[in-house]
Amino acid sequence: MKIKKAVIPVAGLGTRFLPATKTVPKELLPIVDIPAIQYVVQEAVDSGISEVIFVTGRGKDSIEDHFDESPELEQVLEQRGQKETLKGLRQIAAMIEVVSVRQKKPLGLGHAVLCARDLVGEEPFAVLLSDDLIDAPSPCLRQLLEISEEKKESVIALRRVPDHEVQRYGIVQGKQLGDRLYEVESMVEKPHPNETTSRLAIIGRYILRPEIFALLERAAPGKGGEIQLTDGIADLARQKKVYGYEFEGEHYDIGDKLGFVRATVAYALKRADLKKPIREYLRGVIDRK
Ligand code: G1P
Repeated sequence: MKIKKAVIPVAGLGTRFLPATKTVPKELLPIVDIPAIQYVVQEAVDSGISEVIFVTGRGKDSIEDHFDESPELEQVLEQRGQKETLKGLRQIAAMIEVVSVRQKKPLGLGHAVLCARDLVGEEPFAVLLSDDLIDAPSPCLRQLLEISEEKKESVIALRRVPDHEVQRYGIVQGKQLGDRLYEVESMVEKPHPNETTSRLAIIGRYILRPEIFALLERAAPGKGGEIQLTDGIADLARQKKVYGYEFEGEHYDIGDKLGFVRATVAYALKRADLKKPIREYLRGVIDRK
């Protein structure tokens, strides 16, 4: 079955980016001039997804507004003859069908995904986390979809991380099946580097079978007292095969301040209008040090 729906949890409070996130959802913080969430939705669209399900919370309405039409703004741009900007805005509104559901309490990522159950239905679906930006020749989600279409099973994105980053991610133990492909044997949420020999971290792109919902419903609170998606997928791996794929592409963890700045610089350097002046500026900064 073709996977059409993608769940994007956006209810998180963004406390790591306070005070910026006091009134602005962290998902709308821009990388250059595009809100982070738009890169993630674009990846879903480019991967063939046709419906996005936002799992939102209080104070997050402006994320949905970003993907809606904006008649007043469009009228002003039209009157001013700013045709290119207007075209860009209309393209965002036409990108994809958006629906949303509220996560009323911050009970964890697994609980957020469970909130989307009725909107997903009994079909496999994708999950994308907006803290993870991936710059790849073929969209990361597309890479996972190709495997899930062949195997008809769940697939999660993996990246090898250094010891000091192990505690920031879900970590997978698996059997290597191919160059980049693994069969997941077990997984643990944010372990201490001494607790696991694996350095394969889960990055926020998943293709999941609908059986995950029943497992998340039964799941006991895990790390941090939250219902963890990692624990749900570990349960799923005991019933069905779950694959892990070390995707091709550059990952930016923009939930982390250094990662956010790295992404800002890297995405700016990809822009024809900014590349040259930014390279010159960066050289100047380094030379002065
Ligand atoms: C979540 C998941 C974790 C995963 C990470 C990827 O953690 O719980 O397993 O490795 O996303 O970014 P969070 O970053 O939301 O704390």
